[in-house]
Amino acid sequence: MNTDQLAVMSSKYLMNTYRRLPVSFVKGDGYKLTCSDGKTYIDFLAGIAVNNLGYSNDKIVESIKKASERPIHVSNLYMIEEQARLAQKYIENSCLDKAFFGNSGAEANEAAIKLARKYSEDHYGHNRYKIVTLEGSFHGRTMATITATGQKRFHNYFNPFLDGFIYAEPDNFEKTIALIDNSIAAVMVELVQGEGGIRPLSKVYVENLYQYCRENNIIFMVDEIQTGMGRTGKLFAYQHYNIEPDIITVAKAAGGGLPIGVMLAKEKYAESFTPGTHASTFGGSPFVCSVACSFFDELISGGYLKNAEIMGKYLIGQLNDLRERFKEKILDVRGLGLLIGVEMTGTLASEFYRFAFDHRLLIGTAGSNVARFEPPLMIDKTAADFAITLLERFLNGKD
Ligand SMILES: Cc1ncc(COP(=O)(O)O)c(C=O)c1O
Repeated sequence: MNTDQLAVMSSKYLMNTYRRLPVSFVKGDGYKLTCSDGKTYIDFLAGIAVNNLGYSNDKIVESIKKASERPIHVSNLYMIEEQARLAQKYIENSCLDKAFFGNSGAEANEAAIKLARKYSEDHYGHNRYKIVTLEGSFHGRTMATITATGQKRFHNYFNPFLDGFIYAEPDNFEKTIALIDNSIAAVMVELVQGEGGIRPLSKVYVENLYQYCRENNIIFMVDEIQTGMGRTGKLFAYQHYNIEPDIITVAKAAGGGLPIGVMLAKEKYAESFTPGTHASTFGGSPFVCSVACSFFDELISGGYLKNAEIMGKYLIGQLNDLRERFKEKILDVRGLGLLIGVEMTGTLASEFYRFAFDHRLLIGTAGSNVARFEPPLMIDKTAADFAITLLERFLNGKD
């Protein structure tokens, strides 16, 4: 089927929820994607922070083949060895004690919100259920997680939204703690706000807020759905800070491309979930967990974290050089590891999104004016220089 035929068919049969570019990919290798008419693109979006090991990684392909020969799904009514093994990897590599598996980021956050409320109800009664999130945050598209999302533009159409979420100004410690009273069960933050414009929170704010939560028995939750699994150069972004969160959520890259959501909690909170309080039909299937185990091992042992740190620094350095030269077009360069945003004036970020696509570079946007670079973690200098050169050409007004 050619691209035009596919466009007609997609608009006839699919709900109109995405603005899709006119391309369909049929082959992937490392950080390159090839489309149906044979053109190859350099991928600087990685399926929106999912394909951290790029495409067709040998270990992932092999594990998919192997896992498909065993039962793909059995239900959580039975023990699942792959699920227990995956949980062990998470626990041994984090400050958390117990895992719950679902199928997406929003579901992982739903589970975290439910666990925080349940723990609070168990220990403090009915009235301590509210959660402080940050302005500019993004936590998902379900009713609870869209309410948790601290951006007004998401709070339309679907009334009524949930009770129990209040929004604090990021990096303003005094204003944040002024919102905390006896009704607050938890605080939930993204350490680098992704959809909100690739905005890392300041170290001092995060560590002060964490300390305050410690001292006041407020659950400190970190949404690592985008920042986790090596994206920032460490396994989890919280490891850049001097903190040990009570609950973290992970998704996106964690399944090596397969759908997964993970909620990890310290023992004392995890105890509040008992049989019947939370569940998922598909969550933690042998198939997904088996591939997720291979992804985890390859991520840790394959040098990806170090490369994300090195290439992230290189890209941010190059982007800052461009910023010096094009001050009237680039307002800011921000990020951590390979989660990088370039804030641009006016509509330049979305114009660059299209320019890049037309020149076979896939990037994203975040917020209204940020170009977003989230490549697979094994990109090399050739790929980075390709992206930088294209941006330079765009800024120079060249075709
Ligand atoms: C920080 C963060 N939290 C939650 C989500 C929701 O994840 P999902 O789309 O898998 O439900 C996203 C997705 O972009 C995200 O970036």
